[in-house]
Amino acid sequence: MADPHSSSQDTSVSMLLPGHAVVEPLGQAAMRLGFVTEDQINEAAALQHEYAQAGLRKKIGEVMVEKRQITSDQLEIIVKNQTVSHKRIGDYELISKLGEGGMGAVYKARQMSMDRIVAVKVLSPAHAKNPDYRTRFESEARAVARLNHPNIVTGIDAGNTEGIYYFAMEFVDGETLGQMQQRAGGKLEERETLKFVRQIALALKHAHECNLLHRDVKPDNILVDKNRLVAKLADLGLARDAVGGDCGATRAGQAVGTPFYMSPEQARGKDLSPATDIYSLGGSLYHLLTGQIPFSGTSAAMIMARHITDPVPNPRIIEPRISSATAKMIVKCLQKDPADRFRTATELIDEIDRISNGTKQLDGIGAAKGKQPPTGKTQRSTPVDAKTSTINRKRRWRQNRENSSSMLVILLVVGLLAVALVYAVTSSNNGRTKKRPTPVAAPNGK
Ligand SMILES: Nc1ncnc2c1ncn2[C@@H]1O[C@H](COP(=O)(O)OP(=O)(O)O)[C@@H](O)[C@H]1O
Ligand SMILES: [Mg+2]
Repeated sequence: MADPHSSSQDTSVSMLLPGHAVVEPLGQAAMRLGFVTEDQINEAAALQHEYAQAGLRKKIGEVMVEKRQITSDQLEIIVKNQTVSHKRIGDYELISKLGEGGMGAVYKARQMSMDRIVAVKVLSPAHAKNPDYRTRFESEARAVARLNHPNIVTGIDAGNTEGIYYFAMEFVDGETLGQMQQRAGGKLEERETLKFVRQIALALKHAHECNLLHRDVKPDNILVDKNRLVAKLADLGLARDAVGGDCGATRAGQAVGTPFYMSPEQARGKDLSPATDIYSLGGSLYHLLTGQIPFSGTSAAMIMARHITDPVPNPRIIEPRISSATAKMIVKCLQKDPADRFRTATELIDEIDRISNGTKQLDGIGAAKGKQPPTGKTQRSTPVDAKTSTINRKRRWRQNRENSSSMLVILLVVGLLAVALVYAVTSSNNGRTKKRPTPVAAPNGK
C-alpha cells in the first residue's frame, strides 16, 4: 500500500544551496553512520524511481524503511545527522534539518538579529528554477501573513537572498502528527487525537473566515508540541483564496494536494469551498485512528478516482474500538457531496465537543439533531451508514437477547432458591416435629 507519510521527491541528490549551504544526501549520511551499504541505497533508489513513475512521490528514507533496510528510529537519527555546511541564509544561521516536504527542506535556525530559534523553509534549488514552485513558495508566506491564530504556525519573514528562497516561521518544538502516529506503531488514541483535530478545526475556522482554504490538510502538515498540548497547522504552500482564487488545479486537469486525503472535488479539479479542508481533516482523522488511509491504490490517479467514486469506508470495520459517534463524524466529513459534510469548521468543532463531553451516547450513532446542512438536503444514507446501522441493530438485538437471558437465569435462580427455601422450611418443620421431644410434665407438674 502507498505510504502517505511522504510527499517529496528524491533526496538522494545533494541539496545544494549555492554559496550558502550544502546538505549531505540522506543515503550518504545513512552510509556514514553505518546503517546501510551502497548497494542497498541503489536498490532503494530504484524502487523510489518505480514509485515516481506510478505517480507516488516517496522520500528515499521512507523507501529504505519500507524495504526494512533501516527502522523509522534510525531514519530519524540519519535525518538529524545530515551535515549542513555553509550554514547561513541572510539573517538566519541554520542549525539542523527538521524535515523535508514537497517544496524543500525545513531547518531549525537562529535568527541572528533577534537572537531566537526559528524554523526556516528553503525552496529546493531544483524547484527554485520553476516559476510555478517559486510562486507557490512565495504565496505560502503571504497566506501565513494573513492569519493570526494560536493553532496556525506564525510567519516571521520571507525573502530571496542570492537566489535562495526562504520563509522563516515560528519553531514548533515537537513533531508532526504523522510522525507521532508512526512512533505509536500506526494508530493514535481517540480522545487525544480528537483534541488535536479540534484545534486544527479551530485553525481552519480562522483560515476560512479569512477567506483562505488550506487544501493540503494531512497528518504530516500538523505540528504538535512536545508536551502534546498544542497542535498547529503548518505548510500553507497550497493555500488559496476561497472565493475568486484559483480552483483545485494549477494547470488544466492537474490537481494539487496529497491524493491520500484529497476531496473528490479537489481530485476533479473543481471549484473548492471550506468543505474540501473538512474532508481532508476527516480523512486525516480516519488515518490516525485506524492506521489506514480511507482509499488506497497503486497510483495517485487510482487513489483520487476512489475518492470520487468509492463509498465511504466505515472506520469501525478496521478499528472497532473507535466510538460510533466519532466514526459517524468521520463518515460525515468524508461525504462525496460537500453539502453533505459539516457545513463549517464550527459545526465540526461542536460535534467534537459533543463527543468529548460525552453528552452524546457513545453508542448512539445518529447525527446530532439540527446539524444537517441548511441546504434543505438531508444527509444521504451511504452504504456505510446502512451497514453501520445494521451492525448497531444487530448489536442492540444481541444485547437485548443477552439481557433477557440474564433475566431468565436470575428468575430461575430465584425460583430455585424459593423452592429450596420452602423445602428447607418444610423439612425443618418436619424435622422439628419429628424430633420434638415428647412433652414432659413440667417440673412443677403443671
Ligand atoms: N515551524 C516548524 N517547526 C518545526 N518543524 C517544522 C516546522 N515547519 C515544518 N517543519 C518540519 O518540516 C517538515 C516539512 O515542512 P512543510 O511545511 O510541510 O514543508 P513542505 O511544503 O515541503 O511539505 C514538516 O513535516 C515538519 O517535520
Ligand atoms: Mg508538508
